[in-house]
Amino acid sequence: MKNIVILISGRGSNMQSLLTTSLNGRIAAVISNKADAGGLAFANEHGIPTAVVSHRDHPDRASFDAALAQVIDGFQPDFVILAGFMRILTASFVTHYHGRLINIHPSLLPSYTGLNTHARALADGVKIHGCTVHFVTPDLDHGPIIIQAAVAVLPDDTEAGLSARVLQEEHRIFPQAIRWLCADQVALSSEGRVVSRIHTPPNLALISPALE
Ligand code: GAR
Repeated sequence: MKNIVILISGRGSNMQSLLTTSLNGRIAAVISNKADAGGLAFANEHGIPTAVVSHRDHPDRASFDAALAQVIDGFQPDFVILAGFMRILTASFVTHYHGRLINIHPSLLPSYTGLNTHARALADGVKIHGCTVHFVTPDLDHGPIIIQAAVAVLPDDTEAGLSARVLQEEHRIFPQAIRWLCADQVALSSEGRVVSRIHTPPNLALISPALE
């Protein structure tokens, strides 16, 4: 069974979606860069070991990432999952976990990398928005994509409403992606492409606004 370490920075709802489903993997630890991350309590209640590696205790990104990697590697993970981990990681950290580091991002990448994705999507007037699970590469929010979910943007949408609907889809696609990885149904090839055994029906489509 694969060993999984989850990194969080905040409320940890995506981490909860991973802890409360069957993954065919063992969650070895939840680690946060913030001692007050809400998700830590949930992990503790579920008997998952937790640790805090505070970025504030380190003078630069390189030393923080080195300390973080040391704690992570103590759990010997097959996969390291970024579930709302809000730190930019150094290239050497990312390279160390090549093919094993997975992130969820609240947009249909490569659109809206970075922060405030929902507000920017609303400001642009896009009709379809969503979320992405991808392998992490040193190029921020640009790694090979495993799965995406799309939602319709409504005419009178708000940032809160749109983000809640996207989050609901995050909680569906993230466990699915990790389940595929644990079952060796999805992997990163040596050429840096996603190799997948998953069948996609050719007629899957979301049209927004809906046709009449
Ligand atoms: C999620 O929406 C996740 O996609 C996003 O932070 C939120 C964390 O929520 N991640 C990023 O923006 C990473 N660039 P959660 O703590 O409830 O899972």
